[in-house]
Amino acid sequence: MADNKIHEVVQERYGAFARAMDDPALTQSCCGGDDCGTNVQLYDMTMLEGLPVDVTGLSLGCGDPVSIASLKPGETVLDLGSGGGIDCFLAAREVGPEGHVIGVDMTPDMLAKANANKVKMGVTNVEFRKGQIEALPVDDSSVDVILSNCVINLSPDKMSVFSEAFRVLKPGGRVSISDVVTEGDFSEELRAQTDKWAECVTGAIDSDIYTGMMREVGFTEITVVDKADASAIVLHEAGMPRVFSARITAYKPAG
Ligand SMILES: C[S@@+](CC[C@H](N)C(=O)[O-])C[C@H]1O[C@@H](n2cnc3c(N)ncnc32)[C@H](O)[C@@H]1O
Repeated sequence: MADNKIHEVVQERYGAFARAMDDPALTQSCCGGDDCGTNVQLYDMTMLEGLPVDVTGLSLGCGDPVSIASLKPGETVLDLGSGGGIDCFLAAREVGPEGHVIGVDMTPDMLAKANANKVKMGVTNVEFRKGQIEALPVDDSSVDVILSNCVINLSPDKMSVFSEAFRVLKPGGRVSISDVVTEGDFSEELRAQTDKWAECVTGAIDSDIYTGMMREVGFTEITVVDKADASAIVLHEAGMPRVFSARITAYKPAG
């Protein structure tokens, strides 16, 4: 399947989520949490204090990559596929006024929500850039930490995502990812189901292949921090491999 077809279907789905947040009826049902798709329950609730519902209601991740990133004041952080901005805003608190957070997303409606959320929160150390994670609009060796939450599984070209992540990290920089991975592979027939790809299911790959790609582009100390059954957040059907939500950390060598 052509890469641009996947980008198009993914953009359509997440653009619709972003637009739904502007519908008062849908926003109200998001506060209940169950049927609007928000995955905010994946965070420790104390972390979320002070975040408006426009941010928490548009939390579409599969885990919490911020808690395991050990962010420090003054660091520059990049979030791949930043959506409504939840991880950017959490990271912004940790890096403080001397730090900087860049969120990259390809979906215009998501960027509009993220920027509106930034204004609403009065945050000044976060910026959102339009772009694809396979060709990041970010300078070489300029970032201390890369975060990503349930996005790389959506990419049709994961090798490019990892090699771009490696390029923009400073030597010694690190990644902290939450993502959907599998044990085993989807059949070609299942992979061709673009609706399920956009739902963070059939674009997911075996965790060993995932970490192998990271190793191939140069990452070291690759650690699967935890790996939980994801059947509660992604629909599981007969014939599918087991699907997990994993948190993965790795480093770009310092030398
Ligand atoms: C499942 S949502 C996760 C959003 C956010 N990380 C969160 O935790 O709420 C996926 C997001 O990634 C973006 N995205 C998907 N594929 C992308 C790509 N190839 N390049 C840039 N953004 C992408 C989508 O537009 C969407 O906002």
